[in-house]
Amino acid sequence: MMTFFKKFFGLTAGLLCMGLAKADEGMWLPQLLESLNEKRMQQLGMKISAKDIYDINKGSLKDAIVSFGGFCTGEVVSEKGLVLTNHHCGFESVQKHSTLDKNYIRDGFWARNGAEELPNAGLYVTFIVRIDDVSDQVLKGVSRQMKEPERQSIVDRNISALKKATKLGNSENVLISPFFEGNKYYLFVTETYTDVRLVGAPPSSIGNFGQDSDNWMWPRHTGDFSVFRIYAGKNNQPAEYSPDNVPYVPKKALTISLKGMQQDDFTMVFGFPGRTTEYLPSEAVRQIMEVNDPAKILVRDRTLSVMNRYMRANEELKIKYASKYAGIANAWKKWQGEILGLKRTDGLQKKLQYEAAFQKRLDASDLLKARYGLTLRDLNNAYKAIEPYALTRDYYLEITSKIELFSIIKKLRTLKAATGKPGYEKELAKQLESLTELYKNLSIDVDKDIFSALLPLYMEQQASYIAPVSRQQFEQYGNDYQRWAGALYAGNFFLDASKVLKGATSDPSEIFRYFETDPAAKLIIGMTDLYDMEIAPRLNELQARINGLQRDYMKAQTEVFTDRSFYPDANSTLRVGFGKVDDYKPADGIAYNYYTYLDGVMEKYKPGDYEFDVPEKLRQLYQKKEYGRYGVKNPAGGYRMPVCFIASNHTTGGNSGSPVLDANGQLVGINFDRVWEGTMSDISYDASICRNIMVDIRYVLFLIEKYAGAGHLIREMKLAHAIPGSRK
Ligand code: ARG
Ligand code: GLU
Repeated sequence: MMTFFKKFFGLTAGLLCMGLAKADEGMWLPQLLESLNEKRMQQLGMKISAKDIYDINKGSLKDAIVSFGGFCTGEVVSEKGLVLTNHHCGFESVQKHSTLDKNYIRDGFWARNGAEELPNAGLYVTFIVRIDDVSDQVLKGVSRQMKEPERQSIVDRNISALKKATKLGNSENVLISPFFEGNKYYLFVTETYTDVRLVGAPPSSIGNFGQDSDNWMWPRHTGDFSVFRIYAGKNNQPAEYSPDNVPYVPKKALTISLKGMQQDDFTMVFGFPGRTTEYLPSEAVRQIMEVNDPAKILVRDRTLSVMNRYMRANEELKIKYASKYAGIANAWKKWQGEILGLKRTDGLQKKLQYEAAFQKRLDASDLLKARYGLTLRDLNNAYKAIEPYALTRDYYLEITSKIELFSIIKKLRTLKAATGKPGYEKELAKQLESLTELYKNLSIDVDKDIFSALLPLYMEQQASYIAPVSRQQFEQYGNDYQRWAGALYAGNFFLDASKVLKGATSDPSEIFRYFETDPAAKLIIGMTDLYDMEIAPRLNELQARINGLQRDYMKAQTEVFTDRSFYPDANSTLRVGFGKVDDYKPADGIAYNYYTYLDGVMEKYKPGDYEFDVPEKLRQLYQKKEYGRYGVKNPAGGYRMPVCFIASNHTTGGNSGSPVLDANGQLVGINFDRVWEGTMSDISYDASICRNIMVDIRYVLFLIEKYAGAGHLIREMKLAHAIPGSRK
């Protein structure tokens, strides 16, 4: 394994420093920064060492970083466990505490003291205690010739043995994840705190300013942050919520810098990016651009346009559907940017060129040729073979998940499957809660129209991919989607919230009987069965083949391009991205600056608008230029308030809430988005237009102190004084 390790990481560090990597692409492993990236980072301006970032022997920056709820990142900024993350990451907590007369979503929320901080059942934060390379142990007994299932069962067995053998502290957990498509495995010792309380959040008109119109866009003016606090039990250990718990004392809290950033300043983002696919073959990239993204976009186009029609006409529906709309629109908009970015940067062409160079070098070596000569060809072919199944999967998943009548039936079927088994009560409580939530925000008219807008996309597929029951029903209702929808929705039992919720508690078997008689139930069950029996098995078989080939291809790339450093695809584990503050030119004739200011918020301000309203208090602070120590000199005279900035850090979903650190490792911003034209960085990073978007920490502190009047929180934090020799 050592030679393999060297091939992966060792040889390349020196070459990297020679400016080979002009871009700052990559989501790097914190434990390998010292051997792989430190020189390059310092060359870009970093003044600290890799050990300051990750060290298992003493407190390092990594001890201030948490996975926030498993879907976002957060950072500890005080000795009393104060955590910063995004507004959109804390949103669910804010929403759950909101009522009509305490509308925290609309008005914001600020605890004036510890007693007012609000507990959040189910929310947790996870620290990484240490990371170990366990590739040798996990891959013991595995060979390249093995079939995937056999290999997987050996790997699984090794992993569980290793987990058992790992010595853990009282409250520690262990996690083992594959990297480089399963060529490497790392073990993570983690510590999870489950008493995480809401401390503060700005109103949505600040925290989500610009909403869907500005989402994935630059220039941006969103104060996308919220504040939480970790509580601990005795000895500072994790503990379930209790009023007796006390603020957690961290191993490390970040220091905050108020100096601000300028063009080309070094930045790094430390967090938990979710998923990227940077090593796909050209055929897979082509399919994303031409097949999968367009199909998913189409389903969502139709869904959003139905929702939009109703939301515009009806204030109540606007509230009910706002959050669903935002969720559906988020990926929908991202995929469009992804296609655009891939086109503008010739993403497919670049892949083809890369593959040609790969094959040429490979073929020049008898040894490599013997091992991997056909790998790339086979991988591209396997992707060709999976195309129709993957498209059917996309349609099936996208369509069925947008129709809430189907969701209701699916939840009840899950309940049925749990009947008589241990844990049923828990499952019942879970499904009741989620059904109650669903019914609260459901409009039968909207759902029915979504049904008739989406079913054509299902029915227009190749005959063998369509459930027989759907064809039969469609015919029965005169091949007319509206009539079909009308018949299914009229008086449908599953749409009767009170009957379903009561029945589920008292005698669920009554409900389950409708699975056999209700046409909507028969339809979704038929669609699901066809998918599970005809599509999924074929898909899984091809996917297993792809996984094996993709693993070989990954390894082959590292053996062919020994002059290049490779980073593993994102997999929700802790990573470091680094780059520099940088403007960009998204298209001919357009140049974007790298900073935005409060003046821009006021330019976008539309009184009463649901996306671009500005709270009165903020307008007053702007009028009086009451920015305290957070404002900066305006070249045009007076002071101005920085709001957001962009840099070339390679980030993805899950990096939301990640701290953005400067050359000294001090906190200068919170990551929350990427620019639209650069969202293809999940597949093909391009330094010319890939930018992450951050809210400036000075805007965050200004809002906490001047807007929310929560100066006591600022006093908990450690603000850096100017560092000798640095810019004023
Ligand atoms: N685009 C950002 C992220 O995935 C922010 C999403 C939340 N904001 C919104 N307006 N929907 O994921
Ligand atoms: N908003 C994203 C998130 O929720 C981060 C933006 C991105 O995908 O880069 O994690």
